[in-house]
Amino acid sequence: MVSGRAKNAPLNSRTHTFRVYSIGGQVFEPTPLETNSPEKIAGDGINAPGSCLPSRRPIASQGALVSKPSSSPPKRLCVPCRLAAIGAVVAALAGGFAYTAGWLTPARLTTARIVNQLQANAGVYPGYRRNHAKGVCVSGYFVSNGDGAEVSRAGLFDPGVITPVIGRFAIPGGNPYAPDASVPIRSMALLFQLKDGEQWRTGMNSVPLFPVRTPLKFFEQLVASRPDPATGKPDPARLKAFFAANPETQPFLAWLKANPPSSSFANAAYYSVNAFRFTNADGQTRAVRWATQPEAPYAPLTAAQKEDKNFLGGELEQRLKEGALRWDLILTVAAPGDPTNDATQQWPADRQQIDAGTLVIDHESSQAEGLCRDVNFDPTILPAGIRPSDDPLLAARSAAYALSFNRRTHEEAQQPDLPSHPAAQPSQPDQPSNGAHS
Ligand code: HEM
Repeated sequence: MVSGRAKNAPLNSRTHTFRVYSIGGQVFEPTPLETNSPEKIAGDGINAPGSCLPSRRPIASQGALVSKPSSSPPKRLCVPCRLAAIGAVVAALAGGFAYTAGWLTPARLTTARIVNQLQANAGVYPGYRRNHAKGVCVSGYFVSNGDGAEVSRAGLFDPGVITPVIGRFAIPGGNPYAPDASVPIRSMALLFQLKDGEQWRTGMNSVPLFPVRTPLKFFEQLVASRPDPATGKPDPARLKAFFAANPETQPFLAWLKANPPSSSFANAAYYSVNAFRFTNADGQTRAVRWATQPEAPYAPLTAAQKEDKNFLGGELEQRLKEGALRWDLILTVAAPGDPTNDATQQWPADRQQIDAGTLVIDHESSQAEGLCRDVNFDPTILPAGIRPSDDPLLAARSAAYALSFNRRTHEEAQQPDLPSHPAAQPSQPDQPSNGAHS
């Protein structure tokens, strides 16, 4: 309901006041209000004399219905009451921020606690990612064969569409100087730049499942993996106890045991691990996981590679000198009832698989110089036609990547001579600018 003046009435008119009723957008005829009716101007008796609140006069007495304005000034909220009200609002806001930051509940899991634990385990390397810190930037494109359109209306699945890609290969862990053989996992992160400004970002690991189902378990695993001050390495007994207490980790451990790490970034398959919701042009929605399957045949890590701290980057550079590298993008469609909120479980092997096209990687550069440096591969940045599922890891990943991104880019801005920064690299005039800072 809106109060108003009759059309063409003078601004100070009190005699033509009416109420306009609008319900569902339909405006009803103006109803002139009765003026000077004693019932209309009587107080409602809510406010006792001396109350801090202003006396609640009916709207009528504040203008329209009173022919003679009152000579007494309107009562206002007393000063202490107003200060108390302001103080209460400020305290509520501060309390809200403090709660969100976890200061009131130090035992509650927050994004900062997860990222701080990653830092506590690996050390702090300003300018670098807090996880998957050691890596290399790559770029290329995705060629769609049109088959992905069966499950998603995202434009990059239309037949023949070529979508530019910025990527990054890395190994897990927060130490950018860690020996490559110190972890059995490799990762591939991709940013598909769709035609209309949309993006699809994904971070995949070379294991088709994750050790834990929830962010809390991820945090507990980090705590269990923290280095022992005496040895500088995780305490095997503590780790063993964590895995024993959390049987959901067993399929992940069994997979690692059965699949030795690959000899190259180029001959590994990479898996989304988390499930997503794909919707096609007919509005049909299905749960999907994806993987990139390499054209290069898998080969296990060699004994010589185990001794070379940095073999992965050099090997990739060598392969790319010989030609582009290719992966098929495979979409796996869940059957009804397959879990979408549990990354520790693979779906049965007979689920529908769609080969949606070819990912081509044809260029690499250091992560300090390359386009991937200032990309946050947040897995919840998705084009229309793909949405996050109910997997609880996804929101935690998004928040942790953002905090890690904020910390590292802040450090880069504050300290331009960091090794992670191009300004700290020897100048290479024959190399094209990466454009990351334009
Ligand atoms: C609660 C669970 C997880 C947390 C808290 C977490 C945390 C992080 C953080 C902080 C980063 C650094 C991000 C940046 O600075 O840009 C990162 C990178 C990464 N994570 Fe996770 N992660 C989680 C789960 C996963 C899962 C389930 C996968 C995959 C399958 C995954 C794959 C990756 C990859 C590939 C990167 C490197 C991205 C890049 O190259 O920039 N993470 N993670």
